[in-house]
Amino acid sequence: MQQKRKLLKGGIIVTDNQMYKSDLLIEGEKILQIAEDIDSTELTAAQQIIDVSGKLIMPGVIDPHTHFQLRSRNTITADDFARGSISAACGGVTTFIDYSDHLPGLSLKEAVNRRIAEARDQTVLDYTLHQTITHFDNQVSQQLDELLELGINSIKIFTTYRREGYMIPRTEWEQVFHRLRELQILPTVHAEDDELVVRREAEYGAKDQCSPEMHPKIRPAESEALAVEEIGNLGKKVGLPVYIAHLSSQVGCQALQRVKRAGGQIYAETTPHYLLLTEDKLLEPEAQKFIMTPPLRTTQDRQALWEGLRLGEIQLVATDHCSFTLEQKLADDNCLTILPGIPGSETMLPLIHHFGVGQGLFDYPQLVKILSTSAAKIFGLYPEKGSLLPGTDADIVVFDPVKSVVLCTEMLHSAAGYTPFDGIELTGYPIMTILRGEIIAREGEFCGQTGYGKFLKSSVSCLYCVE
Ligand code: URP
Ligand code: ZN
Repeated sequence: MQQKRKLLKGGIIVTDNQMYKSDLLIEGEKILQIAEDIDSTELTAAQQIIDVSGKLIMPGVIDPHTHFQLRSRNTITADDFARGSISAACGGVTTFIDYSDHLPGLSLKEAVNRRIAEARDQTVLDYTLHQTITHFDNQVSQQLDELLELGINSIKIFTTYRREGYMIPRTEWEQVFHRLRELQILPTVHAEDDELVVRREAEYGAKDQCSPEMHPKIRPAESEALAVEEIGNLGKKVGLPVYIAHLSSQVGCQALQRVKRAGGQIYAETTPHYLLLTEDKLLEPEAQKFIMTPPLRTTQDRQALWEGLRLGEIQLVATDHCSFTLEQKLADDNCLTILPGIPGSETMLPLIHHFGVGQGLFDYPQLVKILSTSAAKIFGLYPEKGSLLPGTDADIVVFDPVKSVVLCTEMLHSAAGYTPFDGIELTGYPIMTILRGEIIAREGEFCGQTGYGKFLKSSVSCLYCVE
């Protein structure tokens, strides 16, 4: 029996290296053909022809940094796997990468399997996981092998949050790096210098200066630069590529450049909030809504991050989507204890399109690279994800480049009940999201099925293939 076909007619294909007018034919879950004027007479009535004239056809967005259904700090995030992935789907995301925590009493394999069991039957998007490592010994070393069997090729380490139990002790960093190199697992790093942060926490805490606007002083950009440089240099010493999560500052960018110039293989993501918001938000009423770690910084930092993206020194944009309700966020006004994290997956594509392509900083192929192809390559999902190659998964976002939208909570789908980007006027918005051949969102509304998303086994990162 012939599988279902969908013909996207009259659109403009955008990949990470070209842009041209063409039709795109989907058969079942895969892209079958991209060609000019595909003959639609062979499609039976039951098969669909979708007029996408004037619209852009791009690979589905990949958000490689989400925290859906995160249990942390004695609570749980507002968005579970279903709600978080529905929200992301409405913004053009087709794949996300979340985290499996290093849980006491469980092997890494057990932790991953538990996380997959939580996401199964819930997520509407395809996904894979980074495994967090909070300590390293012989047992963990052996368990890392099992991660590869499961299809997990990246781990997360924290150079801060010692008190919260996330930080991997400094004395173990080099051993971990050697083992990761042996196994070709990519380290992703939350880079802030813990000693500096702990010192500032004590100093500001003693003076009772812990209101939200103090957060950037307590977790200064210098702490990011110190950790980026230290981790980057260690990666160079061991011969390992390292990936910095949520880079937030100009001095962080400069540290990245120094490591690179010295021959280190260092890569980074940044986020829409560091690109678009500044610490001025922390002076507003309900400033708690803008608390995340690292904190928001200055206009100069924002500009440096855009420049880093434009030049390709920062490879991609991810969201660090970690949503809490207003009630959860506003429960506290001490920046050391306000629940850190904001929602963002649903708004990433239109924001980066408007302020990146719309302001002439980069072109559409670079947008695709930054929001899809680079993540697919770095996290071992390419070409099934992040491409529009015939034979690969039909994960597609149809984008209307001239649609005008004013972002507001009511149009979005996160259970957070607010957006940090409220009131921003945008040109360009996703109008259809297709995951493995199924339309899962249309005109900003979810129309897919809970549980349709599947766990993806990743392969070795492309960063291990770079000389
Ligand atoms: O503030 C952030 N980045 N939240 C994500 C989860 C965490 O605790 O780091
Ligand atoms: Zn995070």
